[in-house]
Amino acid sequence: MPPRKKPEDLRSHRWLGVNTLRTFTHLSRLRQGGYDAKDWTDKPVIGIINTWSDLNFCHTHLRARAEDVKRGVWEAGGFPVELPALSLSEPFVKPSTMLYRNLLAMETEELLRSHPIDGAVLLGGCDKTTPGLIMGAISMGVPAIYAPAGPQLRGNWHGQVLGSGTDAWKYWDEKRAGRITDEEWAEIEGGISRSFGTCMVMGTAATMMAISEALGMTLPGASSIPAADSAHPRMCAAAGRRIVDMVWEDLTPTKILTPAAFDNAIRVHMAMGGSTNAIIHVVAMARRAGLPMDMNRFDEISREIPVLANVRPSGSLLMEDFFYAGGLRALMAELKHKLDLSCLTVTGKTVGENIKSAEVYLPDVIRSLNNPVSSAEATAVLTGNLAPRGCVIKPSAAEPRLLRHRGPAIAFEDYNHMAREVERDDLEVTPDHILVLKNGGPKGAPGMPEWGMLPIPKKLVKAGVRDMLRISDARMSGTSYGACILHVAPESFVGGPLAFVQTGDEIEVDVPGRRIHLHVADEELARRRAAWKAPEPRYPRGYGAMYSAHIGQADEGCDFDFLAPLGAIPEPEIH
Ligand code: FES
Repeated sequence: MPPRKKPEDLRSHRWLGVNTLRTFTHLSRLRQGGYDAKDWTDKPVIGIINTWSDLNFCHTHLRARAEDVKRGVWEAGGFPVELPALSLSEPFVKPSTMLYRNLLAMETEELLRSHPIDGAVLLGGCDKTTPGLIMGAISMGVPAIYAPAGPQLRGNWHGQVLGSGTDAWKYWDEKRAGRITDEEWAEIEGGISRSFGTCMVMGTAATMMAISEALGMTLPGASSIPAADSAHPRMCAAAGRRIVDMVWEDLTPTKILTPAAFDNAIRVHMAMGGSTNAIIHVVAMARRAGLPMDMNRFDEISREIPVLANVRPSGSLLMEDFFYAGGLRALMAELKHKLDLSCLTVTGKTVGENIKSAEVYLPDVIRSLNNPVSSAEATAVLTGNLAPRGCVIKPSAAEPRLLRHRGPAIAFEDYNHMAREVERDDLEVTPDHILVLKNGGPKGAPGMPEWGMLPIPKKLVKAGVRDMLRISDARMSGTSYGACILHVAPESFVGGPLAFVQTGDEIEVDVPGRRIHLHVADEELARRRAAWKAPEPRYPRGYGAMYSAHIGQADEGCDFDFLAPLGAIPEPEIH
């Protein structure tokens, strides 16, 4: 049993427990809020970092859930305070929430540092909110539990189950091909998002929530609970109870986030058929924890773990089904011989103890290692002269014929160029062409948006083509699918070789061999490089200028160079 903290060891003691003029100000202001000495004396102050907003419908319930967390904190003898943070609503924030992930991480860290906070419950779920919150909590170093927002209920249209994103792309192509009417399209619009909560396919949200649980940063089972299920507020209250003890135990994130915990998380990611976005976020989170991590670890682990979760886009069902099948604890129990069961978690117990009683109830939904959904890996990292620092593809979501392919490129200089061209009926394109999008990366887009699932040209859609090779330095939504090669590093905007691809160049992709090659002679590439002019930075001022000056490339996790390094920051002076 580790020694427990005493009240005078709490961070908040410096604000609330000493006898100074400033303490008078703090306590009189707490009384202004209707609190009395009994509410705060000798209690850990728990910050509830809430990413609720009126434009983030994945987080609509988090306002109410903060009250559930507070209930738990009060019950366990803590003093809860709610602190709002940037919401990062995936559908509404432009040009991309990825532009702002690090801003949320900074905000989380500084909210915790500048206030009298002893421990934190982090409320988020919509894609970048999970890594943003956790990166900030790691860097701040106070005990923290992540309480994931949970997925939406299944979508429904004409008796068919609809999945977020995945079915939007599918029916959009049907509409472009003239196979569904505007009226039907409007019905789909009304049926695809039936409740609050995150996307309910294996998108980035479900992936990152599962990864957080596998890392040990959530209560067991928390990541699979649908947002609208009554188990969800119960989980939030339990997180509130648990964080109080975590403060007394001084159970900080870096005690949980070990190399073995990250390996567990990557194994779970593979078994979930998780989003390629997770690679960037996991690299960033691990580096915040002071651990070496790069994309190759994903590639290594992907060769040993097949996809077990029968959830779209790699499978056919949704996160609600996954919950009924036993949720993440059951999937981890299925993988238990591949996991390090001794890793510590926020419960103060090990992964092995947390999953001991877990069972798979629906074996078609959570498959066994002997009967996977797909033996194609969830992630492959390719390198070659087109991507010297690497790029990624999700083989399990691509047509197998495209995993070894050579064809001529059609190169687009930016998104608008691409969007115009793919609608042209006279575009010279065949299913063997390879679409190449430039300027979709961290600096170039900017913000590395989810443009990587380039639309199949209209002419081919009409002919029934549903997949072709596509290459970009952008990301792809986890709800997307297809033979999309993403995260090409270095990006074209900074002079990566992608910048020099021209229409007609032959490109060869060999996923089993982990190679990507631009068949252009070195001398010709050198000539193109010499003729290339670096574009002007995208932002003349403001946050965007700071972002452009400090953002790292995809293989580095896209963190800011001044946020990634370790180093203790002094506690604020209180005068
Ligand atoms: Fe929020 Fe997909 S839009 S999780």
